[in-house]
Amino acid sequence: MGIRLAIIGGTGVYDPRILSDLREEEVRTAYGDVRLRVGTYEGEEVAFLPRHGAKHSVPPHLINYRANIAALKLLGVERVIATTAVGSTTLEMKPGDCVVVDQFIDFTKNRVGTFFEGGEQGVVHTDFTEPYCPECRKVMKQAAADLPVVVHDGGCYVCTEGPRFETPAEIRMFQKLGGDLVGMTNVPEVTLAREAGLCYATVSMVTNFGAGISLTPLTHEEVLEVMAQNSENLKRFVMGTLPNLPRERGCTCGHSAGALKV
Ligand code: HPA
Repeated sequence: MGIRLAIIGGTGVYDPRILSDLREEEVRTAYGDVRLRVGTYEGEEVAFLPRHGAKHSVPPHLINYRANIAALKLLGVERVIATTAVGSTTLEMKPGDCVVVDQFIDFTKNRVGTFFEGGEQGVVHTDFTEPYCPECRKVMKQAAADLPVVVHDGGCYVCTEGPRFETPAEIRMFQKLGGDLVGMTNVPEVTLAREAGLCYATVSMVTNFGAGISLTPLTHEEVLEVMAQNSENLKRFVMGTLPNLPRERGCTCGHSAGALKV
């Protein structure tokens, strides 16, 4: 039985001890080597990958997203549940709330966003009508029902290049464009996952209101503090999701991509 499930932990989610029998794995990919942990949860093997490194040493714009997704693909992973810390552009989504994201807008600038660069991998244009796996999202919403936390069903994640926070003018622009949340990591993670044929869904934890809505200047410490206060809920959210994901995939995430060679 392969490792079918993976958690990609974002800011504030570095602790793999939610899993038992932990071991470390180093996976060699064509894009670089990836160290991750593998453990067990409810009898099922689960890979745990902290996106920013175990000690938050890799900033959002320098994460090797391709290596991370290729490593999960090589392990045999089919489904990825990711966490992200985000700012909110709307008073409806408040610090401490969770959002099961359903759309994104890409404002990144300098990232390689695809596996398909011609050559051996070919040229592929992938459909993103439904960017996040609907089956995973459904199970996440059910898991959320048991939690003492506000969970929004759907929200549009604007991904910025970072690592700086936004200006108030940028936040106003994102509001006008329909963006609810702002973060620095979901793209190209979500797009690469789809290209690799993996199901991918994200729960975003709102840590602050965006610049200009927030009454105080933004700091990474503030983000970490809110994540620390809410990490138990986020953990329960992810752990409530994993065992309830159907074994057979009924979604199209595995078919919509070109045949990625890893
Ligand atoms: N902007 C971008 N990324 C973030 C924010 C924010 O306000 N909060 C947490 N991650």
